[in-house]
Amino acid sequence: MATTVRSLHFFIVLFTSVKLLALAEGEAQFIHNGFQGASLHLGGIAKIHTNGLLQLTNTSKQQIGRAFFPFPLKFNTSSSGDSRSLSFSTIFAFAIVPEWQTLGGHGIVFTIAPSMDFPGAVASQYLGLFNVSNNGLSSNHVFAVELDTILSPDLKDTDGNHVGVDVNSLDSRVSAPVTYFSNEEGKNKSLELISGKTMQVWIDYDDVQKLLNVTVAPLKSPKPSMPLLSTPIDLSSIFLESMYVGFSSATGAMASDHYILGWSFNRGGEAQSLEISELPSLPPRKKERKTLILITLLSLITVVIVLIMLMGAGYIIRKMKFDELREEWEGEYGPQRFSYKDLYKATKGFKDRELLGAGGFGKVYRGRLPSSNLEIAVKKVSHDSKQGMREFVAEIASMGRLRHRNLVQLLGYCRRRGELLLVYDHMPNGSLDKFLFSNEKPSLTWPQRYHILRGVASSLLYLHEEWEQVVLHRDVKASNVLLDANLNGRLGDFGLAKLYDHDTNPQTTHVVGTVGYLAPELSRTGKATSSTDVFAFGAFMLETACGRRPVELQGYPEGGVLVDWVLECWKRGAILLTSDPRLEGNYVAEEMELVLKLGLLCSSPIPAVRPSMRQVMQYLNGDAPLPEIPRNFSSMGTFGANSEESAEVIMSFPSSSGTTTVRSFSSSNSILNQGR
Ligand SMILES: *[C@@H]1O[C@H](CO)[C@@H](O)[C@H](O)[C@H]1NC(C)=O
Ligand SMILES: *[C@@H]1O[C@H](CO)[C@@H](O)[C@H](O)[C@H]1NC(C)=O
Ligand SMILES: *[C@@H]1O[C@H](CO)[C@@H](O)[C@H](O)[C@H]1NC(C)=O
Ligand SMILES: *[C@@H]1O[C@H](CO)[C@@H](O)[C@H](O)[C@H]1NC(C)=O
Ligand SMILES: *[C@@H]1O[C@H](CO)[C@@H](O)[C@H](O)[C@H]1NC(C)=O
Repeated sequence: MATTVRSLHFFIVLFTSVKLLALAEGEAQFIHNGFQGASLHLGGIAKIHTNGLLQLTNTSKQQIGRAFFPFPLKFNTSSSGDSRSLSFSTIFAFAIVPEWQTLGGHGIVFTIAPSMDFPGAVASQYLGLFNVSNNGLSSNHVFAVELDTILSPDLKDTDGNHVGVDVNSLDSRVSAPVTYFSNEEGKNKSLELISGKTMQVWIDYDDVQKLLNVTVAPLKSPKPSMPLLSTPIDLSSIFLESMYVGFSSATGAMASDHYILGWSFNRGGEAQSLEISELPSLPPRKKERKTLILITLLSLITVVIVLIMLMGAGYIIRKMKFDELREEWEGEYGPQRFSYKDLYKATKGFKDRELLGAGGFGKVYRGRLPSSNLEIAVKKVSHDSKQGMREFVAEIASMGRLRHRNLVQLLGYCRRRGELLLVYDHMPNGSLDKFLFSNEKPSLTWPQRYHILRGVASSLLYLHEEWEQVVLHRDVKASNVLLDANLNGRLGDFGLAKLYDHDTNPQTTHVVGTVGYLAPELSRTGKATSSTDVFAFGAFMLETACGRRPVELQGYPEGGVLVDWVLECWKRGAILLTSDPRLEGNYVAEEMELVLKLGLLCSSPIPAVRPSMRQVMQYLNGDAPLPEIPRNFSSMGTFGANSEESAEVIMSFPSSSGTTTVRSFSSSNSILNQGR
């Protein structure tokens, strides 16, 4: 290490011999606006950055850093008068960047000393110049100006931010807290050495006046017109013939980065001002670096939090979107439970494009289950009540076990808040009423209609008698009969009517069904029976044969109630007149008559007169002869004489029957009353 320094020294001597001579002549001056390529004797941990910044110490503890002009200044101390001049002037720019914002350690000391080496010198408050035993010895011949950032009581410091003039000792001869006189404002302003800001120091010694001035100011400020310290001092007793000039710096338990940015020195007169624009810049402040890291970290954390929140929100939205009601008791219906997500995907998000129809109970969407590719129809029923849900789901589950080729298979269900979704087999041909009453579908032939009637009758028989328990459909009508690909009639929506029972106040009895299909006793008692299903089936038979709705507001020759009209024609012996004109007479007359008469029988206001579904089946199959309709047969009271005082009626109108307003309902009611 020592040899390296020495050989470097030798090299520098050769390189800067011109300057050496100049200095020897007493006119010497030098200026370093940054120390790039500068010849300096570095000691301790001092180093020069590639940008020319001289760093005396870093924030490592108990370290010393020194930098000296490598050639001695020659002073002829024994002479007197003009030939002897100890005057000098120097300017340097420095910065002290403490490790901790408010605590620096220890400082920089501008030094003129007999040697560039300080054997035995220690760090911390001795600033790399002395140790406890040689501090203050007159044999030291050291002159120094300290920039001290620590109050060291043992050295009689005045405060932790002072400038001191030291002779042979770090017990300053004079010292002052760091201030500068602002020429502009005409007053002293304080300066914080450890602010990390670059400042300039001017040290001027006039050997004639024996006056030493020390001035400090922020980098960009001009030299204050008043020095911080102006103290008489005779350096002739201190300086030896050969003196070295430079800086020492030290850290202690506390540490700062100590930097020198530029240095100008002149023995002959005032030192040349530093070229501030040429000074190297300081590395980004640790604090700034820390702040930067902190900011980066914070923004990262923020981004992460925002992401998490977005994901959370997404998750919540997704969860809300696919949120279901699922209760413990539903566990046993697991296999019939569909996830809303699956149904959502199957129906492409319940897009209107997938809408198959909208009826009294809700909207029906077409869908295709992604897992099985099975075509389904999803019925969305709004349902707000928890009341009876358990029983209802139980029923749905048991209905899911119903198997009949003339029933629309219920595949399962899903529950959401305020919504019930029922999943059925998709019936590609839609509902029968579209074929019967609208021109959008071709008219069905008589054999097709007869086939459908028998099919639906057999499914109703299955529900009433052939399954393990009696299932009442409660809403048999053409719009609830769906046609599969082979135009087989399939009864759908069985038991669904009950949903309204469950959904309503149990104190009031509601009658569920559709106007024109409601048995009179149903609106009186509110009690559905297999016989009330038969009544509705009668109306269904009539509408299928006649191609007319059970109740129409206009266009009826006789009032507007189909059964009354058929009965009227039957009484006149002209029942076939009522057959659907769209058949254009293409039907088997016996079958037509059978269906019309059976329809009348089923429409009897007296439940006992109505056949059972088993009998209906037998008549339709020709296994039993249809009993004669009594001459006094009447369809009177179809809607019940006391419908106002009887239970409240919830009715759904056939969806395509046009003006289904409350007003038209009451007017149709009055038509019925007139017909009665
Ligand atoms: C200070 O400098 C010395 C010598 O270059 C180095 O070993 C040490 O790691 C540095 N310390 C810091 C805190 O940078
Ligand atoms: C110092 O000055 C004295 C008197 O002025 C002179 O005699 C002597 O030679 C000088 N010494 C040097 C080394 O310049
Ligand atoms: C102080 O430094 C001197 C050399 O300058 C040395 O002889 C002495 O032992 C040192 N004292 C201590 C206490 O380190
Ligand atoms: C030192 O400061 C005093 C007071 O401001 C001034 O009169 C004197 O000329 C200054 N001396 C030098 C060498 O700057
Ligand atoms: C400014 O500070 C200097 C040195 O400490 C002092 O001599 C001077 O009186 C102060 N001036 C004012 C205006 O406070």
